[in-house]
Order: sequence, then structure tokens, then C-alpha cells
Amino acid sequence: MMQDRKALRREIRQQRRALSRSQQQLAGRQLAQQLSRQIWFRRARHIALYLPNDGEIDTRPIIALCRRQRQHLYLPVLHPVRHNRLWFTPYTRKTPMRLNRYRISEPVPTGQPRRPAFALDLVLMPLVAFSPGGGRLGMGGGYYDRTFAFKLAEKRLRGPRLVGLAHELQRRDALPLEPWDVPLNAVVTDNACYGISY
Ligand SMILES: Nc1ncnc2c1ncn2[C@@H]1O[C@H](COP(=O)(O)OP(=O)(O)O)[C@@H](O)[C@H]1O
Ligand SMILES: [Mg+2]
Repeated sequence: MMQDRKALRREIRQQRRALSRSQQQLAGRQLAQQLSRQIWFRRARHIALYLPNDGEIDTRPIIALCRRQRQHLYLPVLHPVRHNRLWFTPYTRKTPMRLNRYRISEPVPTGQPRRPAFALDLVLMPLVAFSPGGGRLGMGGGYYDRTFAFKLAEKRLRGPRLVGLAHELQRRDALPLEPWDVPLNAVVTDNACYGISY
């Protein structure tokens, strides 16, 4: 089972990195278009997302859209005390950035007010593989699973809506999932929205 997950991650990450710059640009624009049709996206006030890395679908058109719509954006940062969990720090045009240990651009950890995971309306998260029912395979760090484990415990509609962003090529009909994998409410790709439509 674990080996399945490793092999699948490797295969899809390779396919994702093989996309050309123009394919990536087009996919990013189409993704923003798909999202902008969703009422839950337009209504969200506090939205966490990520900056693309390793061939992940480009979020920059979404960032531009959210800024026009006056929505508040946040980026994940490693929690200073609760190891392996994420916190969310405000992301504006003025936010000073640095490269973290994975060489991913992230906000400089300053005395900025951070927002705990449960106080967001919407979390747009990266993934390696997804299934149309909301299954998610990440890069293997388990950060989002740990951060949103409270959504598994309370089987109600509390907490932020969790939505994966992906290229269509990252879709698989079924995934080798584990009990700790937190399911997504929806996945939006360059081509479709899987899951909630309200
Ligand atoms: N809620 C949790 N509490 C403690 N450890 C967790 C939790 N969720 C995941 N993990 C650990 O994180 C590791 C990576 O999780 P995995 O689901 O494989 O990664 P990803 O979701 O990034 O694909 C696993 O070994 C798992 O034991
Ligand atoms: Mg997981």
C-alpha cells in the first residue's frame, strides 16, 4: 500500500513537471476561470492558497482575481511550536518573502498576525493525486492532514472548506488512501470542478 503511494507520487510528479511553460500558463488561467464560477469561492472572505512548485498548477491568476475581489489571502507557514502543522499568514503585495528549506517562497516569519486553520473560510491546497470523490494524496509530508485532522474528528460542516487544486492529469479513479488522509470537499482542475457545487 505505502509502496503504491510512493510509486504513484513519483509517476504523477514526473508528468506534472513535464508540462511546458505555455501549458502551465494556460492551465492556470483555466483554473481561475473554473473557480470563479463557484459561488462558494466568490463568497469566501479568508482564503488560504499556495505558491506553485514542482509543476503544481499555477495559482497566480487566482491571486490576481482574489485581490480584485478584495478577498483576504493567506499562505501556509510551518507552525513555530506545533511541529509539522501549518499556520496561515496574511499574503499581500507588501508581504516580505524568503525561500524556506524546501526552496519554496514563503512569507518571512515576523511578528505578523497569523490565522489558525479553523478561522479560514476556504483552503485551496496543492496535491499530487486526487480521486473525484475527494481523496487526496499529497507530497508525503502529511502537513495538511495534521493541520486539518479536526475535520475528520468532527463530522460536521465546521471549519474551512477544503478544496484541492490540480491539473486534470492528476486525477485517478481510485487512490490507496489511509485513515488519516483528510478528504477534500471538492477538487478544481483546469477542466472541471469535482464535488460540491453550491
Ligand atoms: N493527523 C495526523 N497525526 C499524526 N501524524 C499524521 C497525521 N496525518 C498524517 N500523519 C503522518 O504523516 C505522514 C505522511 O502522511 P501522508 O498522508 O502519507 O502524506 P500526504 O498527505 O502529504 O500525502 C504519515 O506517515 C502519517 O503517519
Ligand atoms: Mg495524506
